[in-house]
Amino acid sequence: MTTATTGVTPITGAVGTAHTRVEGRAKVTGAARYAGEIPFAELAHGWLALSTVARGRILSVETGPVLAMPGVLAVLHHGNAPRLDTDYIGMLGVPPDPTAAVFQNDRVPHAGWPVALVVAETPEQAREAAEALVVTYEREPHDIELTAGRPDAHPVDGHMPGMTEKGDIEAELAASAHVVDEEYTTPEEHHAMMEPHAATALWDGGRLEVVDSNQGTTWVADELTRMFSLDPSAVRVRSEHIGGGFGSKGVRAHQVSAVMAATVLQRPVRVVLTRRQMFSLTGYRSPTTQRVRLGAGTDGRLRALDHRSVNQTSTVWEFVEPSAGVARVMYDADAHRTSNEVVRLDVPSPTWMRGPGEAPGSFALEAALDELAERCGIDPIELRLRNEPERGPVSGLPFAGRNLAACFREGARRFGWAGRDPRPGTRREGRWLLGTGTAAASFPAGALPSTASVTAEADGTHTVRIAAADIGTGARTALTLVAADALGVATDRVRVRIGDSDFGPAGIAGGSMGTRSWAWAITAAARELRDRLVPGGTIPPEGITVRSDTTAALGALAQKERHSFGAQFAEVAVDVTTGEVRVRRMLGIFAAGRIVNPLTARGQLVGGMTWGISMALHEEAVRDRAFGSLYGPDLAGYHVAGHADVPEVEADWVDDPDPEDPVGIKGIGEVGIVGAAAAVANAVWHATGVRHRNLPIRPDRVL
Ligand code: MOS
Repeated sequence: MTTATTGVTPITGAVGTAHTRVEGRAKVTGAARYAGEIPFAELAHGWLALSTVARGRILSVETGPVLAMPGVLAVLHHGNAPRLDTDYIGMLGVPPDPTAAVFQNDRVPHAGWPVALVVAETPEQAREAAEALVVTYEREPHDIELTAGRPDAHPVDGHMPGMTEKGDIEAELAASAHVVDEEYTTPEEHHAMMEPHAATALWDGGRLEVVDSNQGTTWVADELTRMFSLDPSAVRVRSEHIGGGFGSKGVRAHQVSAVMAATVLQRPVRVVLTRRQMFSLTGYRSPTTQRVRLGAGTDGRLRALDHRSVNQTSTVWEFVEPSAGVARVMYDADAHRTSNEVVRLDVPSPTWMRGPGEAPGSFALEAALDELAERCGIDPIELRLRNEPERGPVSGLPFAGRNLAACFREGARRFGWAGRDPRPGTRREGRWLLGTGTAAASFPAGALPSTASVTAEADGTHTVRIAAADIGTGARTALTLVAADALGVATDRVRVRIGDSDFGPAGIAGGSMGTRSWAWAITAAARELRDRLVPGGTIPPEGITVRSDTTAALGALAQKERHSFGAQFAEVAVDVTTGEVRVRRMLGIFAAGRIVNPLTARGQLVGGMTWGISMALHEEAVRDRAFGSLYGPDLAGYHVAGHADVPEVEADWVDDPDPEDPVGIKGIGEVGIVGAAAAVANAVWHATGVRHRNLPIRPDRVL
């Protein structure tokens, strides 16, 4: 029996120091297995067949010829698939998206809707059969047109109220010395993470096991439990390594159809989505059309702020892209109105995508602020500082730290903002016009209830178990540092196991809440464990385990308006002959709580800013009006910024610990993209003197 003496000398200070990823070696050597490559005996492969019509009814699924093809085991469709329960509100407070609850009726609500799963012995056989499968439809006319003036746009309560209103907007606008009233649009955008969605489902000793790539194993387990009317203890979801999520990796058609097939065939079934299938099955950021009206006195102080956002959703699920929400936090005004409205169209359901609401919302609001600064003749940073609110403009709550001004001061210093000539279109370098721009960023800093266990092992090490998801953020490493500090031991004495719903309920890797939610639970368990260990005592072979649950503790967060903030800076060069915009450098300074691991945190923030460049200049999914589907739904047709598009991007932060958080964390997942596109667009105006209110700023729009 191995025994260890407890009461080792506390070693603290891991949090805040750079640490390479604890699973980094496994990832770069290929030892880390992703969901689509974990081997199983007797594995069968499912391939989804998607609708070719944008709206209508399935008349027939011609299964006969396909079942006769080599290796084909089954064809599941609405006529024979297991029935699902979809009448529930899930863990995240929303009903299931019918796009995931596949094969329940003959309705087709959008192009690329899953109509059948063909299962075969090999993926190639399944694919060939799925592509040969004949499905006949009764077509109906479809409507995919999102426009600002649609009468059917209506405010919808999502995670926040659809509408907020105080004061008399029209009166304040009329009395304002300077007014901005503009329409801004952002296009449909896709997550395009590296690893496509993949799941393997199998029944093992009466338990359903799903090996998946997702942003929350207990979330996916909870949804599958409800849909298939199972006992919660009979479902286990694992997701150890994830090649990106960005909001898209929840419950989707691939897991549900894999579970159906595994249930029908009683053997393991894997369903992997192709890149093209992802463009209709895994959510996307809705296009938005936003009207922003700002009115200010000669001093630049806002008298009126009206931010209205309209986004599209599908006919089967209501998703609000809460773009006007950013105005509820950033700026106050004597009259203040915001609304998040939706229009139901014959399109796939949109979903959360990095910086949901704030990413498109900040483009409109922060571009409008820049226009107001121009009209007022006030420096854009100074204008923002003059409009810093004392309390949450809508909530009325005090801020749990609002260090936006500190971000602007530090950013301006490092970027070299002082002495900037505000006149547009005046700096030339050969065929390039040069300009600089800035914008503010914010994102809510919340936490989700989580449970964790920490075990003091007999060999002197510690094991943390938590159903966390490391979607590429470095969460596993951050949690290792947090656990080490809370236990008072070195990081190499701690192993953190994640990605398994059997570890108990935990928050998702989403809403910038993952690391904070999990760190809270781990800290609670680790501190209690440390208290419980008797100095000089021995640890039994099975170790000593303490469990925590943060549900009750999170109430402490409700008393304040809690956000991460940031100041974005961009310098661009615009080619007057081709209309090409090149970003020359970007700087982001953030106030985002205590930074756990500077190495991966910087990567997160730079990644978000890089995506902001991509959003500003490249990304745009375009729907074909005739067919309702996307043109070029792949990474050739959908241009994501490549290395050559991305210059020096620098991210740093100011000291901003959250006073109510045990570790001081706020959250860094999304704030990096917020305001980034506006900073680029504002710089393009500074370079050229032309405002670009429609993203992306393509060369043909610049010329
Ligand atoms: Mo994030 S869009 O909540 O994964």
